[in-house]
Amino acid sequence: MKKTVSMFLSVLLFLTLAVTASAAEPAKKVETKSGVTVIHAADWKEQFPEQYETWLQNSENDEITDYLEEYPYLRTLYEGYGFAIDYGSARGHYYDVQDIEATGRPHPLANCWTCKTPDFTNMVNEEGISAYSKDWTEVQAQITEGISCYTCHANTPGEITITHTYWIDAVGEDFDSIAPANLACGQCHNEYYFAPDTKATTIAHNSLDTMHPDYILAYFNDGANFSNGQPFSDWTNPRTGVKQIKVQHPEFETFLGAGSPHAGDFTCADCHMPDAVSEDGTPYHSHNIISPLDNPELIENTCSRCHADLVSEVHAVQAKVEDLTYGVGYQLEYLTELLARAVESGMYTDEQLAQIRALARDAQFYWDFVFVENAEGAHNPALTYECLDKAAACADRALKLLQALTC
Ligand code: HEC
Ligand code: HEC
Ligand code: HEC
Ligand code: HEC
Repeated sequence: MKKTVSMFLSVLLFLTLAVTASAAEPAKKVETKSGVTVIHAADWKEQFPEQYETWLQNSENDEITDYLEEYPYLRTLYEGYGFAIDYGSARGHYYDVQDIEATGRPHPLANCWTCKTPDFTNMVNEEGISAYSKDWTEVQAQITEGISCYTCHANTPGEITITHTYWIDAVGEDFDSIAPANLACGQCHNEYYFAPDTKATTIAHNSLDTMHPDYILAYFNDGANFSNGQPFSDWTNPRTGVKQIKVQHPEFETFLGAGSPHAGDFTCADCHMPDAVSEDGTPYHSHNIISPLDNPELIENTCSRCHADLVSEVHAVQAKVEDLTYGVGYQLEYLTELLARAVESGMYTDEQLAQIRALARDAQFYWDFVFVENAEGAHNPALTYECLDKAAACADRALKLLQALTC
């Protein structure tokens, strides 16, 4: 009996959440070429003290892990690319300008400012995509703040406005059906690339359906999608000749992707921006973005209705994902070394190696789609395992073909 009641309550809660999510006003789209300038966070301090103060608290998330130390095989997998030289973990939004200024990775063009500051977002909105190919340093002189109110609200705090125009294209006709908070965070927590001709920040999908990693990979593999007629690649591994794709942080594609347990009922803000109440009793969202695992009220009031012990459950999923990611990572390292040896021997033609290189490229894409997703599987365990399985299967096939060729 007790179980039936609690199940009933869960379903009720689920329905309430689903209805709330779909009944919300759609997000707004930024107006471009309208002569607007950015109103910076400090200018909103008096009017929105709670949001302003909690936004500053993003400085509390200040640790960086050195991925190259933690995952030594990365130097092999990313060889020939900036991420093999310097690769630290992400931390709070507060640090984003500082961190890009300090990175050891090369960043010649202004397109690297895309996800860092509204000052650049507004430059793109006013000047058009030519802003992406400006010199990085020239733009640096005009940056006054990192991710801030304008990024998610334009100049109307409280209303979600999508200010990154490529992101409006990336979801296409699904725009109005996606919860505004998901769109706001998805502007940067996504899988993007720089278009080879314009250097503009661009997304490989144009709807929710086409953002599955299978479609994204098929898009990159089809030369017809690119002005030079070639499949897209970020760089070529100098020893294997594999034209690699570097996946970015596909949190949006993963969390809203097929198999996600909570895509329909919670938003990024529900889990990462805690509910708070101001001194005069007005509810607001804390703008200090934290892990739901560090939010005991949320777990107690909401999650615990279905999750007996959310923290341990999530840690168990993450530990399993971490083990599998290491396993496939080492398999890719082995494949890279064997392939490099075959190439260096000079005994095989490009034609003989073509299929092996293509499989190695696909394998690394699927593995990277998981490796660079910041929730380590928590956003969507099913899609995460699917990607790791596909990575391992492609790597296996590449190894078998290579062994057949070389012995
Ligand atoms: C303008 C781009 C942008 C938007 C919009 C954005 N983020 Fe971020 N986010 C970043 C960048 C860049 C970093 C890494 C900053 C650094 O390491 O210096 C980051 C870091 C984070 C981190 C810390 C990750 C870690 O490993 O500690 C979390 C959590 C996060 N973002 C969640 C969100 C959520 C939730 C939203 C929406 C409410 C959001 N972000 C919107 C760009 C963005
Ligand atoms: C990374 C995105 C992001 C940034 C940066 C951001 N906000 Fe928000 N803001 C949100 C989201 C998401 C909500 C909740 C909207 C929802 O889900 O209905 C919100 C809600 C609000 C609200 C409505 C009341 C509340 O708290 O729910 C106000 C007012 C607001 N923000 C002001 C600000 C101000 C001022 C700044 C700058 C100091 C700022 N925001 C920066 C994403 C952001
Ligand atoms: C159902 C709850 C939930 C929703 C909704 C959700 N996340 Fe998460 N997210 C998590 C959990 C759980 C983790 C793992 C936290 C941990 O390891 O402490 C996480 C981790 C992250 C991280 C890494 C943070 C870190 O400290 O390492 C980022 C970035 C992130 N989420 C962004 C997003 C974005 C962007 C969205 C929306 C597209 C989103 N999340 C939606 C639950 C959620
Ligand atoms: C209405 C019931 C319900 C509520 C409430 C709920 N969850 Fe879930 N959650 C589920 C179900 C069902 C799954 C899928 C479990 C599975 O596949 O084993 C799931 C899976 C997850 C996962 C994937 C990892 C895992 O443990 O399987 C995360 C992370 C998660 N939930 C976070 C949250 C957070 C954070 C909250 C509170 C904000 C929450 N959930 C509230 C039902 C719920």
